[in-house]
Amino acid sequence: MWAKEIYAGVVVAGLVGTANAQLYPGQSKLNHTCLLQKPLLSCPPQNPSLVDSCCVETFGGLLLSTQFWSTYTGRESSGQLLPEKAWTLHGLWLDFCNGSFTQYCDLTRQYDPIPSPNTTDGTKNGTKVPPYTGPNIGTFLEPFGKFDLLEYMSTYWIAQNQDNAGFWGHEFSKHATCFSTFNVPCYGPEYRQHEEVVDFFETAISYYKQVPTYKWLKNAGIVPRNGTDKGYTYADLAKVLSKKHGALPYLGCSGPRYNTTDAGRNGTDSGFTVLSEVWYYDYAYGRPQEGNTIPVNATGSPTNCAKAKGAIRYLERSAGSEKKPVVPY
Ligand SMILES: *[C@@H]1O[C@H](CO)[C@@H](O)[C@H](O)[C@H]1NC(C)=O
Ligand SMILES: *[C@@H]1O[C@H](CO)[C@@H](O)[C@H](O)[C@H]1NC(C)=O
Ligand SMILES: *[C@@H]1O[C@H](CO)[C@@H](O)[C@H](O)[C@H]1NC(C)=O
Ligand SMILES: *[C@@H]1O[C@H](CO)[C@@H](O)[C@H](O)[C@H]1NC(C)=O
Ligand SMILES: *[C@@H]1O[C@H](CO)[C@@H](O)[C@H](O)[C@H]1NC(C)=O
Ligand SMILES: *[C@@H]1O[C@H](CO)[C@@H](O)[C@H](O)[C@H]1NC(C)=O
Ligand SMILES: *[C@@H]1O[C@H](CO)[C@@H](O)[C@H](O)[C@H]1NC(C)=O
Ligand SMILES: *[C@@H]1O[C@H](CO)[C@@H](O)[C@H](O)[C@H]1NC(C)=O
Repeated sequence: MWAKEIYAGVVVAGLVGTANAQLYPGQSKLNHTCLLQKPLLSCPPQNPSLVDSCCVETFGGLLLSTQFWSTYTGRESSGQLLPEKAWTLHGLWLDFCNGSFTQYCDLTRQYDPIPSPNTTDGTKNGTKVPPYTGPNIGTFLEPFGKFDLLEYMSTYWIAQNQDNAGFWGHEFSKHATCFSTFNVPCYGPEYRQHEEVVDFFETAISYYKQVPTYKWLKNAGIVPRNGTDKGYTYADLAKVLSKKHGALPYLGCSGPRYNTTDAGRNGTDSGFTVLSEVWYYDYAYGRPQEGNTIPVNATGSPTNCAKAKGAIRYLERSAGSEKKPVVPY
């Protein structure tokens, strides 16, 4: 009921062009010329009543540039393939400076066909996030003439068991709506619908391009290889990526726990054994869009992977799941 009222409110607000239900309701559309302001650091947290929340992140402050290593997409028959020699883009997330986070911060910009979680706080009684049924978010780029951006996204921002555009909509609505700097009033009185969607996609890609995980690992002799006797060691992976990024990223593993494998059975190392994700952490000076970042170590536990020597498998993609990208990383 509450969500419905917000929706009704926005229809009206949209027509008369007044304030709508945003992260900071009632925020002025004027005077967000960030170059005239000192580029403040996003953590420790800035107070939105004292600074311009369009010019520095004030809602969260800890940026996470996240990637996947997957071996298949589940939609190969529709031509949804993984780019050879590249990890794929997962997203650009915003945590509070203390490492906790929230999601789906503006339901008036809900473009996720499969909300996950399906309530804003993930609890059964939380505010429902209604599944989006309109034209996919990729189509939002067309009036902006951003066909090159769409091609890049279709090459490197790849979903698993879902169409890519549905996944992009998920990433935007779950995460980008929580950034103060992608808030609609920041774009001024001549805001064009979905301008901030384009801005978010471009920003997520600019971060992704700074952290070429595949290349970094390959240059250290770490490449995907199958065979149970061909494992890598967590400390070696962490060392390479920390050195390149300038701080320790989070490494995520899936697959069996080490203590259930032949090599690790009955041992105390119960970490997972198949390398699948990396999250690079940064703070930003000024708008995150400018990319003026400083790397920071992952907050909390830096991995769920097994730590034992040779315990981690970095798998080769399945036959037929990859293609050579025609647009460069
Ligand atoms: C915008 O800036 C001008 C020039 O400093 C100032 O006169 C005006 O009050 C400001 N308006 C708002 C809404 O901040
Ligand atoms: C982390 O910071 C957020 C935002 O200030 C706050 O709402 C939350 O309670 C904090 N969480 C913890 C565990 O301190
Ligand atoms: C959710 O709401 C129901 C009905 O109001 C209540 O019985 C239940 O305890 C609530 N659950 C939680 C986890 O708050
Ligand atoms: C959210 O998903 C859970 C698990 O699939 C389901 O039981 C619940 O009814 C859903 N809640 C809403 C608000 O759609
Ligand atoms: C592991 O535990 C199982 C059952 O507790 C036992 O049968 C087996 O011998 C143990 N293996 C090793 C290598 O200790
Ligand atoms: C592996 O470790 C997990 C977590 O500590 C534990 O729950 C599980 O029983 C262990 N499994 C085996 C086979 O030792
Ligand atoms: C990350 O942690 C390491 C080890 O504790 C420390 O030496 C390093 O200074 C930290 N790096 C940053 C950027 O905080
Ligand atoms: C590598 O191993 C994984 C896991 O068994 C499998 O899914 C994948 O198809 C394999 N790739 C190749 C090229 O054999």
